Amino acid sequence: MLSREQVLETLQTITDRSTGKSYIEMQLMRDIMVKENHVSLTVVYLEDSDHPPEGLEHQIRERLSTMNISDVHIRFRKASDWEREKAGTKSSSASAAKPKASIPDKGHAAGLENVDILNEKSGVHFIAVASGKGGVGKSTVTVNLATALARAGKRVGIIDADIYGFSIPDMMGIEEGPSVEDGVIQPVERFGVKVMSMGFLVRENAPVVWRGPMLGKMLRQFFSDVNWGQLDYMLLDLPPGTGDVALDLHQMVPHSSEIIVTTPHATAAFVAARAGSMAIQTKHEILGVVENMAYYECSKCGEKDYIFGRGGGGKLAEMLHTDLLAQIPLGAPDNHVAEPDFSPSVYKPTTKIGALYDEMAANVIHKCEKD
Ligand SMILES: Nc1ncnc2c1ncn2[C@@H]1O[C@H](COP(=O)(O)OP(=O)(O)OP(=O)(O)O)[C@@H](O)[C@H]1O
Ligand SMILES: [Mg+2]
Repeated sequence: MLSREQVLETLQTITDRSTGKSYIEMQLMRDIMVKENHVSLTVVYLEDSDHPPEGLEHQIRERLSTMNISDVHIRFRKASDWEREKAGTKSSSASAAKPKASIPDKGHAAGLENVDILNEKSGVHFIAVASGKGGVGKSTVTVNLATALARAGKRVGIIDADIYGFSIPDMMGIEEGPSVEDGVIQPVERFGVKVMSMGFLVRENAPVVWRGPMLGKMLRQFFSDVNWGQLDYMLLDLPPGTGDVALDLHQMVPHSSEIIVTTPHATAAFVAARAGSMAIQTKHEILGVVENMAYYECSKCGEKDYIFGRGGGGKLAEMLHTDLLAQIPLGAPDNHVAEPDFSPSVYKPTTKIGALYDEMAANVIHKCEKD
C-alpha cells in the first residue's frame, strides 16, 4: 500500500521559484493524507497572490500520477507574513507578524523551535471554549474557529482539554497520532491547525480510567512537552460544565480569554451563564458568546425556523457584558466519507456556515489584536 513517506519522497524535488528551495523541506506541503489511492494535501505558497503559482498544481499531479495516484485533492493557501519570513523571502525587520517579544528557548533538542507557550511573552492568544452544559457544540465551534483562523493566515493550535470525552481527532478526521522527534512530541497538523488530544494517547476508544492528578499532569504536559512552535492562537476545548478540569485550566493559563457557547434556549443560556461567571470569578476576559444551533434555514425557501427558541445568545452576552460573536444555524457539514480530507465536523469555507466561521474568526482577530 502507498505510504505517506513515498508521497513525500515523490514531491521532495518540487521547488519554489523565488527561493529555489523544496516545498517539502520548507514544510510548505502539509496535512498530507494518504488513504488507499487517494491523496490530499495543503500547499502553502510564498507568492503574494490570491492564486497559486502557475503550473504548480500540474507539477504535483504529474508526479503523483507516476505513482498511479489519480485521486488527488490539493488545497492552496497563501503564506502568512511569518511563514514567508521563515522561508527567507522577507526581511525580518519588515514583518508585522513577528512575535512581539523574544521567546525564551527552553533548551530542548537542538534545531527544534521550542516555545514556552504558557509564557505570556510568547504572544500566544489563549482562547478557552466553554459552556454550561454538554452537547451545545463547544468542540464543533473549536475546530471550525481554529480552521477559520488558520485560513486567515494565523498559526493555530488546539488542545483538546476534554480529557474524558475527547472528540477533536475524530471530528477533524485525524487518523494518525503525534510523532516524537528527538524526544519531543510533535502535534498532528490538519487543515493548518496543530492538534493535541488525549484521544491520541488512548487506544481504540478505550475509556480513560485514570483519575484526577494523573490526568491533570497529562494535560499540563500538553502545554509544556509538545513542540508547538510559534503560535498566534491556542484554542482550548473544555469539557462541559464547571468541573475540576475547567478550574485547573483556569489556573494553568491565567491569561486565557473565553468564548461561551450556548444554544438559543433561555434555560441553556441561563446554565451557560454559570460558565461565564466562573470565567469572571477567575478574572478571565470573556471574548464573547456564540449561539450555536440558532435556527434552521430551509434550503428551498430560505425561511428561518427558530426551533430551539430565540434570543438566548443575545441575552447571555448582555448578562455577561460581552458581545454575541456569531449565530450559527443548524446544518451538517457537506462532507463525504470517500473524500481524502473527510472530517465529519469541519464546514467547508465555501458553505454558508463556513463563511459564518470566517466572519467569527475575523471578529476574534479584531478583538485580540486591536492593540
Ligand atoms: N450547528 C450545528 N448544526 C448541527 N449539528 C451540530 C451543530 N453544532 C454541533 N452539532 C452536533 O451536535 C453534537 C454535539 O456537538 P459538540 O460535540 O460540538 O458539542 P460539545 O458541546 O463539544 O459536546 P460535549 O459537551 O459532549 O463535549 C455533535 O454531534 C455535533 O456534530
Ligand atoms: Mg466537546
